[in-house]
Amino acid sequence: MPAKLVAGLSDAVRHAYQESTGQSFDTLFERLRAAPYVMLPKAFAPGHLPSTPQNFIPVPDADGTLIARVSAVIALGELGMETVSYGAENDGELFVNLVVIPGEGRIADKSKGGMRGHTDAVTFPFRGQLDVSNPDIAPSPDFVCLSGLRNPDSVRTTIMPMSEVLANLSVEHLDELKKQQFHIRSQKTFIPGMNLILGNEHGIDEGEILLDVGQETWVRYSHSSILVNEEEQPAAAEANSAFAAACHRHSRSVVVEPGDILLVNNRLALHGRSDVGGEPGGESRWILRTYGLDTTGLTKGQRYSKPAYMLFP
Ligand SMILES: [Fe+2]
Repeated sequence: MPAKLVAGLSDAVRHAYQESTGQSFDTLFERLRAAPYVMLPKAFAPGHLPSTPQNFIPVPDADGTLIARVSAVIALGELGMETVSYGAENDGELFVNLVVIPGEGRIADKSKGGMRGHTDAVTFPFRGQLDVSNPDIAPSPDFVCLSGLRNPDSVRTTIMPMSEVLANLSVEHLDELKKQQFHIRSQKTFIPGMNLILGNEHGIDEGEILLDVGQETWVRYSHSSILVNEEEQPAAAEANSAFAAACHRHSRSVVVEPGDILLVNNRLALHGRSDVGGEPGGESRWILRTYGLDTTGLTKGQRYSKPAYMLFP
């Protein structure tokens, strides 16, 4: 279980950091928790890997995928995050393959194309809030964790930090984005599971895109999932366009190389990627993805009892 793994190793990692740098881990912790992303280059040695799989699940058992998964759980644990999945996405698997999927259709096409900026699990509540229709729906993740296994064409992962995006928006636009007035649709990967578990696709009728939390402003967004009626909500539509344009202007990118772990803050940044292309399988691009959430405030109903890392729905 990920929680037990972290409990056993996190003290060791903290001590090693403090001994080798002479600095307190707490200072580093605060800085990393407030960063739009944390890149841990060469966090693990990939070791033996089979051919790149051709679907989201399952993650094949091999030395290389095991060390990648353990490293991700520890990295998230050091940030105070539990490694979690959602039952409604990819059968609740804790790790999924981000790979080129063969064949025709939307999922296969999407696996090859670029992806515009978004946060993951966009219809789920911000941590600290409850979903209006169902209080058992767990918060969206605080972090999206990407572990690099293969990336022969150096496909770039894009990141749009809110610190830069929001600094470029007018007060009027920011106010509009903080109003509960946006219709938000679910991301495709969650829809089959939602239909199965909830009996319908979970969405938000009137929600905010930005939320002030303490000193920070948190975001939930997906270019394709936010719907605004331009005729009925001209101010909201204008703010939404200004936000999308600012995200585009403040997009930066990194390459997740084999052995790298990239932790993207799912409240303080959007993420996406450039075109992947190429053929599936073989030695093609392969990244493992999982989620991290500060679960201290989670209610009993927001988590399955078996497996305990799987959140509702
Ligand atoms: Fe994503």
